[in-house]
Amino acid sequence: MVKICCIGAGYVGGPTMAVIALKCPSIEVAVVDISVPRINAWNSDQLPIYEPGLDDVVKQCRGKNLFFSTDVEKHVREADIVFVSVNTPTKTRGLGAGKAADLTYWESAARMIADVSKSDKIVVEKSTVPVKTAEAIEKILTHNSKGIKFQILSNPEFLAEGTAIQDLFNPDRVLIGGRETPEGNKAVQALKAVYAHWVPEDQILTTNLWSAELSKLAANAFLAQRISSVNAMSALCEATGADVTQVSYAVGKDTRIGPKFLNASVGFGGSCFQKDILNLVYICECNGLPEVAEYWRQVIKINDYQKNRFVNRVVSSMFNTVSNKKIAILGFAFKKDTGDTRETPAIDVCKGLLGDKARLSIYDPQVTEEQIQRDLTMNKFDWDHPLHLQPMSPTTVKQVTCVWDAYEATKDAHGICILTEWDEFKTLDFKRIYDNMQKPAFVFDGRNIVNADQLREIGFIVYSIGKPLDAWLKDMPAVA
Ligand code: NAI
Repeated sequence: MVKICCIGAGYVGGPTMAVIALKCPSIEVAVVDISVPRINAWNSDQLPIYEPGLDDVVKQCRGKNLFFSTDVEKHVREADIVFVSVNTPTKTRGLGAGKAADLTYWESAARMIADVSKSDKIVVEKSTVPVKTAEAIEKILTHNSKGIKFQILSNPEFLAEGTAIQDLFNPDRVLIGGRETPEGNKAVQALKAVYAHWVPEDQILTTNLWSAELSKLAANAFLAQRISSVNAMSALCEATGADVTQVSYAVGKDTRIGPKFLNASVGFGGSCFQKDILNLVYICECNGLPEVAEYWRQVIKINDYQKNRFVNRVVSSMFNTVSNKKIAILGFAFKKDTGDTRETPAIDVCKGLLGDKARLSIYDPQVTEEQIQRDLTMNKFDWDHPLHLQPMSPTTVKQVTCVWDAYEATKDAHGICILTEWDEFKTLDFKRIYDNMQKPAFVFDGRNIVNADQLREIGFIVYSIGKPLDAWLKDMPAVA
């Protein structure tokens, strides 16, 4: 029986390994982590992450060929294939701070693998890492190996949170990079055989190590670039009276461009896009390519611009001040169907409004008050360092309350900001909400999910991203 161990029981390690266990009953899969609460949660009925379909998959395999454990060393020692899916946050200090990937967690995992191994192993980079990381990992492993042979593979993960299980069941492609040597090829084939249990062979791409590592950064940069492109257009639409939904539909009909990922919004979020682009920028700079670095940096700049623009629009529409006004925030997660708040645009929008002394009442169906308070008191880039391993800061933002439904959040509010596209926000009783709000009542739809015309009929002043502006909003221009 092949034994797999995955170091890192997070958003990637947990779902990915659960699906491997489900699809490969002949393989024993152990997911290990240094975080005791996380592993306890994986072993309970309340999994540590919310992901549609995940509960089902875990329940089918847990205790049979899928195990979650904090006994990292034992499972690594016993494994034939070790996936490393630890976090790779942006460095907060020292060389490359604010851009480069912090490989501390990766390096400590690699050193531990070298320390405890007693047999040859395939070590798989599942985390998103800078191109050429495998070379560094190889050096750590071979210098500490006591004669044991390690083959390093790059197998970046392309799942998207919110659709992780579906993405893992039917991936667009699986990418495996390895050394172009007989041993490297053998390792690539061994990993390919795992995925071949359910993924058609022609969708399993094999490349050299550096192409696989770079492809992941490139894919995220291209995806984020589309969002920043349509968001840049949304600003121009508002200035000209064009409608961004009509423009992106017309643009996306071109088969060379395609319709996906062209929705204008308050900005992209999530743990990966910004971090991976910053990392790409840093790699370009280190390789003497400042023009290429600047090109990709612009994707982040437009994303920041879009979030600022949104805050400015809210404040300027409400007589240039939100001081002491109650603003309801509907949605805090970075997108629907996840409870993940890492780099969510809601953090920057809320901080912007708090900076103008607003009082915020926040509702998200999957995010806890504890998480929201932590996010709003945390410094930039601190979020992806495993804070759950450290004692929680008792700091809270007093102007913020978190409530259990949208009606409570909007009661007596002056304005509503919709920041996550949860389906339930589309079917709210906006007449009831309007009746319970201060007047004039504003809706700022950061995801373009409500029917603005219907809301205007009720009496709301509505701002939708990239859509022709109400007369009210035209009279109160936002300074970007
Ligand atoms: P995460 O933060 O949810 O999980 C990482 C886990 O690794 C944590 O539970 C942490 O306690 C554990 N860990 C850290 N150092 C460890 C060590 N030495 N030994 C054992 N456990 C250790 O991170 P997530 O979101 O799963 O991301 C992991 C990697 O996958 C990152 O490189 C990320 O860029 C990449 N990725 C993430 C995607 C996502 O949607 N979240 C999608 C594709 C790739």
